[in-house]
Amino acid sequence: MRWIFLILLFSFSKLFAEEVNLFTTRHYESDIKIYKKFTKKTGIKVNVVAGKSKSLEKRILEEGKDCIGDIFFLADVGRLISAEKKNIFQKISSSIFESEVPSSFRSEYWIGIAKRARIIFYSPSKISKNELKDLNYENLSEPRWKGQIAIRQANNVYNQSLIASLIEKNGLDYMKKWLKDFVNNFSRKPQGNDRAQILSVASGESKLAIANTYYYALMLSGKKGKEQQLAAQKVKPFFPNQNNRGVHMNISGVGVLKYSPNKENAIKLIE
Ligand SMILES: [Fe+2]
Repeated sequence: MRWIFLILLFSFSKLFAEEVNLFTTRHYESDIKIYKKFTKKTGIKVNVVAGKSKSLEKRILEEGKDCIGDIFFLADVGRLISAEKKNIFQKISSSIFESEVPSSFRSEYWIGIAKRARIIFYSPSKISKNELKDLNYENLSEPRWKGQIAIRQANNVYNQSLIASLIEKNGLDYMKKWLKDFVNNFSRKPQGNDRAQILSVASGESKLAIANTYYYALMLSGKKGKEQQLAAQKVKPFFPNQNNRGVHMNISGVGVLKYSPNKENAIKLIE
C-alpha cells in the first residue's frame, strides 16, 4: 500500500513539474487561450515571459546555457532569421510541421505559426479600382504615383521583410534603382505606424498606403476610437501581384532555443 502511495505521489509530482518556458514578443489574448488549452490537454504548464524582441534576444544570448527559455516566439520573419543567424535556435523537425506548414514558411530552425499580408490601401473616392488593375508592388516606383504613397520608416522590420522579398524576386540591382524611384513617390517624410499610413489616405494626404491587413481590421473594429474607425471606412484594401507570385505574406513564428531544458514539451506545444 505504501509503495502504491509513493508511486502515485511520484507520478503526481512529475505531472506538475512538466512545464515549458515560452519567450514571446506577442501580446494577444488568443495566444494565452491556446496555452491554457494546451495545459488542460497535456498537463504541461506554459510559463510566459513577454517582452520586446531585442531585449529577449539579449537575455537569451547573455544567459547562454543557463537560460530557462524553451521557445522563442517572434512576430516577423526578419526577426526569426536574425535569431537564427545569432545561433540562438537548435534544429527541429516533426512530421506535423512538414505536413501542416508549407516549406516557404519554415526553416530547419523555425516554424511559421501565423501569417499576415502587407498590402496597399487606397481611397475609392480618389482612385478607381480600374486604375489599380493588375498592380504589382513593382509598379509603385512608376512616375504616375509621384508624391502619392504613404509608408512608415525604413527601419521598420515589416518594410525590411517586404523589400527583402522584392530583392529575392527581382535582384539587388533592379531594387536599388526601384527604391530611388519609390522614395520619389512618397507623399510625405515617412512617419508613424501602419495605422498612421491608412489615416493619411483617409485624410486625402496620400493616395496609396502600405500597411498590414490586421491594422485596418483593428481600426474598423472601433477599438482604436471612433475617428480611426471612420477613417478606415473611407479606405479600401488592395492585394497586389495577383497575376504573378501573389501578395507579400509575413509570418510570426517560433524556434526552440539551443539550450532548451524542456525540448520535448516545446515541440509538443508548437505542434
Ligand atoms: Fe504588427
